[in-house]
Amino acid sequence: PQQRTLAVIKPDALEEHRDTILEEIRGRGFTVAQLKETVLSREMAEEFYKEHREKPFFTQLVDFMCRGPCMMLILTKENAVEEWQAMMGPSDPEKAREISPWSLRARFAADILHNSVHGSSNEQHAEEKIRFVFGDISADAAPTAD
Ligand code: CMP
Repeated sequence: PQQRTLAVIKPDALEEHRDTILEEIRGRGFTVAQLKETVLSREMAEEFYKEHREKPFFTQLVDFMCRGPCMMLILTKENAVEEWQAMMGPSDPEKAREISPWSLRARFAADILHNSVHGSSNEQHAEEKIRFVFGDISADAAPTAD
């Protein structure tokens, strides 16, 4: 089924790899339904990653995500959530280099924190984060339920 997901190009990857990543996203058959570049406030980054609030790396994660611009994208494709996860590879680039050396994280990520890209882990999260980042304008890009 046609599906959408939220993708983020993180500050570590945006400056140097933006064009490559966008080109590869489109080359893999995703449609970029919405796109915006933004510097997250601490409050936004904390809310965006609220599921990780108790993790030992939470403060570092928020610092990192606020240190420069991120690109936020709504990607549409069949099985977009899973397809984007496959394209990113595992969170830890060392693991990514072992199991999917072609993946974005294998090629561009420095370590498990500075891991270049983010993607929603399931359809419900995708819709929640899309609404959080893009607000109601994103409703126009919603796939029709059938
Ligand atoms: P992301 O997929 O955006 O989801 C949560 C983020 O937390 C993750 O990518 C990394 O940036 C970061 N992260 C996950 N696990 C760790 C870890 N063990 N140490 C530091 N950062 C982590």
